[in-house]
Amino acid sequence: MSSTSALLNLLGIRFPLIQAPMAGVSTPALAAAVSNAGGLGSLGLGASSVADARRQIEQTRRLTDRPFNVNVFCHRPARRDAAIEIAWLQYLQPLFAGQGALPPVKLEEIYLSFNHNEAMQDLLVELRPAVVSFHFGLPPVNVLERLHSAGVITLASATRLEEAQAIAAAGVHALVAQGMEAGGHRGMFDPGAHDPQLGTAELVQLLVNEVRLPVIAAGGIMDGHDMQAMLARGAAAVQLGTAFVACPESAASEEYRRRLLSAGAGQTRLTRTLSGRPARGLLNRFIAHGEAPGAPQTPDYPVAYDAAKRLHGAAVALGCHDFAAHWAGTGVARARAQPAAGLVAGLLQEAGLAYKS
Ligand SMILES: Cc1cc2nc3c(=O)[nH]c(=O)nc-3n(C[C@H](O)[C@H](O)[C@H](O)COP(=O)(O)O)c2cc1C
Repeated sequence: MSSTSALLNLLGIRFPLIQAPMAGVSTPALAAAVSNAGGLGSLGLGASSVADARRQIEQTRRLTDRPFNVNVFCHRPARRDAAIEIAWLQYLQPLFAGQGALPPVKLEEIYLSFNHNEAMQDLLVELRPAVVSFHFGLPPVNVLERLHSAGVITLASATRLEEAQAIAAAGVHALVAQGMEAGGHRGMFDPGAHDPQLGTAELVQLLVNEVRLPVIAAGGIMDGHDMQAMLARGAAAVQLGTAFVACPESAASEEYRRRLLSAGAGQTRLTRTLSGRPARGLLNRFIAHGEAPGAPQTPDYPVAYDAAKRLHGAAVALGCHDFAAHWAGTGVARARAQPAAGLVAGLLQEAGLAYKS
């Protein structure tokens, strides 16, 4: 059996196409549309409360009876450093002032890692989504065992060989090989470690050769030809994020869609400034300020994100979108705005994969 057939059987889907989980952007409607079209839709619940996670999973179940994926963040808790956080807030003060606002007095760790969120762990064991995927690391062994005992299939992101080997050793069912081109956060386990910054094609090739798990390619895949190229390299499936942001079913704001659809090649930046972890998004005033010469160190993830989100909130109230986290991959210039079912059908057709609804 090919690696693709094996993965399709494992996930219970028809086509080797996964809509990436995108916290704040993916929705039940988007995930259900992709799953109903024969791919695997995903919910990005890394930044959600337990109540919101339950609501999104239940809503998706009302929209599809097909399998879908639920994604959580397994980052290590933030390393707090008051001096770094104060210096960062002072550095952002002129940006806040420009929006008629004051920086907050202090920053918060705005969401809990799944690894420390027992209520979220219990929720996923109770609701048993068909698939659960992990970003920024792996959950504790006992949590993984509880999910597997509940019949859940698991996936985890890897940006380098060592992470892929850890994923295989933990007994996770398949891995997402996330290359440098990818929009959103790099799933690196340790954001302080040296990053070999491998591109998607190179990483997929390496992991297919070295790790005995199905490899899902992610990063810069925008059309069926890109899909086909990744499958030809041995990927069992592909995962696309940026390509789905402009779908009407996503939660992206009008301004995000407008900027995404008018972006040219080369307009994304990999930056820690917005959240404290490396992530790729459309270059804007926040990133330019955060990366200017002499800028102080960014606080740890997700503490830095608190500052960026507060500034964005103040600016948006005045109609300014210059400080948003508009995540996008290097393929952004090829993004298309169309309903998810049509996008999936077009991708499959371009990839030469027979599409039967
Ligand atoms: C807007 C956006 C939000 C994302 N949020 C998440 C997330 O919550 N969890 C996750 O595992 N990956 C997330 N990612 C990364 C994707 O899983 C995937 O690696 C990436 O989208 C692939 O690259 P592409 O955007 O070029 O298709 C996000 C990507 C984007 C574009």
